[in-house]
Amino acid sequence: MENKETVIVLDFGGQYNQLIARRVRECNVYCEILPYTVDIQKIKEINPKGIIFTGGPNSVYDEASPHYTPEIFKLGIPILGICYGCQLMAYSLGGKVVSATDNSSSEYGKTATKYNTEDILFNGITQGGISWMSHRDYISEAPQGFEVTAKTEVCPVAAMSCADKKLYGVQFHPEVNHTENGKEMLKSFLYNVCECKGEWKMESFIDATVAQLKEQIGSKGVVLGLSGGVDSSVAAALLSKAVGKQLTCVFVDQGLMRKDEGDFVEQTFTKLFDMNFVRINCQDEFLSKLKGIQDPEEKRHIIGTEFYKVFWNKIRENYGEGYFAQGTIYPDRIESGKGDAAKIKTHHNQVGVPDDINFAGIIEPLKDLFKDEVRAVGEKLGLPHELVWRQPFPGPGLGVRVIGEVTAEKVRILQEADAILRDEMDKCGYAENMSQFFAVLPGVKTVGVMGDARTYDELVAIRAVTTDDFMTADWAKIPYEILGRVSNRIINEVEHVNRVVYDITSKPPGTVEWE
Ligand code: XMP
Repeated sequence: MENKETVIVLDFGGQYNQLIARRVRECNVYCEILPYTVDIQKIKEINPKGIIFTGGPNSVYDEASPHYTPEIFKLGIPILGICYGCQLMAYSLGGKVVSATDNSSSEYGKTATKYNTEDILFNGITQGGISWMSHRDYISEAPQGFEVTAKTEVCPVAAMSCADKKLYGVQFHPEVNHTENGKEMLKSFLYNVCECKGEWKMESFIDATVAQLKEQIGSKGVVLGLSGGVDSSVAAALLSKAVGKQLTCVFVDQGLMRKDEGDFVEQTFTKLFDMNFVRINCQDEFLSKLKGIQDPEEKRHIIGTEFYKVFWNKIRENYGEGYFAQGTIYPDRIESGKGDAAKIKTHHNQVGVPDDINFAGIIEPLKDLFKDEVRAVGEKLGLPHELVWRQPFPGPGLGVRVIGEVTAEKVRILQEADAILRDEMDKCGYAENMSQFFAVLPGVKTVGVMGDARTYDELVAIRAVTTDDFMTADWAKIPYEILGRVSNRIINEVEHVNRVVYDITSKPPGTVEWE
């Protein structure tokens, strides 16, 4: 979609930044998150319909706090500052921000707020409502030319606006569901202030992407790395729509799949779809490369690099020269630390192509989409419900669920334990309540007693989460009876396991996977 209307979310390091981006997209407006270090020239080139300054953990007075050139306020582009973003706007334009030394003026959580409903942001909502606050510093005086448009008991400027310059700020977080009418406020900014038309719809995404893929690929061949997960399956369907049999989907069974997963993927793709599908079994190669490797990032790099090698061989064999495609989505890129974001872990499809591999290019048709958008595209393309709503499975597979060195025996233990977990969850219907669940082999041995004998065997951990977007997640409150049954069966049926524990860590501070 060339020249699509875009809103920029300028990231000052706040915890809700992904959420802001998702909310904007939910309003059918395309947006991109850019770090606050981005050059203003780049913003001018994008020529966005609007800019949203995110929150951030700092005080505008901290020396190390992120700032942005005040030139941005002169571009004539509407800006909405949220929390820290609002304080930065006030500070940069001559308002007064008070750096709180005690907690008397800080607000955290649900806060009663009074809005001026004449203001364009709050037009049509009730005058009094609850907003979600999370701040210590506060704005005591709005800059000249600004009107105060919301207040709370302790916050004299809970929102401010300068309609002439299309500059708006809110001290609270409209993106958080606890803020009543928060989505309406964002919508009002996008539609009434920025005058967006709301063109970001999955149907138009599909049409535009298919057209663009056709043009880019021309008559060349494409190999797609297919794992059988949602992302690569949707990428396969899009590419197949664009270039038909010029596409070969390659499923690499690296020996790190769940029990029977390889066969499931093969059956699904050969039965359901009329596309070139190849399964390549290379368990031994992957395991020998992983021998002796303990470090999670090193393991991810090795697995990612081995994948590229297999795909490269296939491209040469099939086409001589051709494109490589993969199902990368937006959060993969963010969490892999591209740009200014902190690196959490390198997703397998983000390790960087080895120097001696020369793809004609890399195609990532879903690289700007969030998971829920990928699923919506999958449904629009007519993929079966079970495939679209499958639980995610990481590309490095059980390689990042066997903690430390990966061996064939450890993979076997984990596969057996994981299969029991899935079986029990499916049987009682509880699987549907969860976004993702799996077993982990931490590589810890503990003492136990079985029969009358001492055992010294492996510990298995169960991980289960609920989440909307996998960027944050809650640990799932699985009933004890189910956990009890799973534990009993694993200990009785899987040789060399004598203890099962349940992981009760949310994300953050944990991540979903253990490595
Ligand atoms: P984390 O562990 O980062 O996981 O909280 C978030 C989601 O991403 C999946 N995940 C991956 N998926 N390649 C993938 O395709 C990877 O390297 C990878 N690492 C994590 C994880 O299973 C969860 O759904």
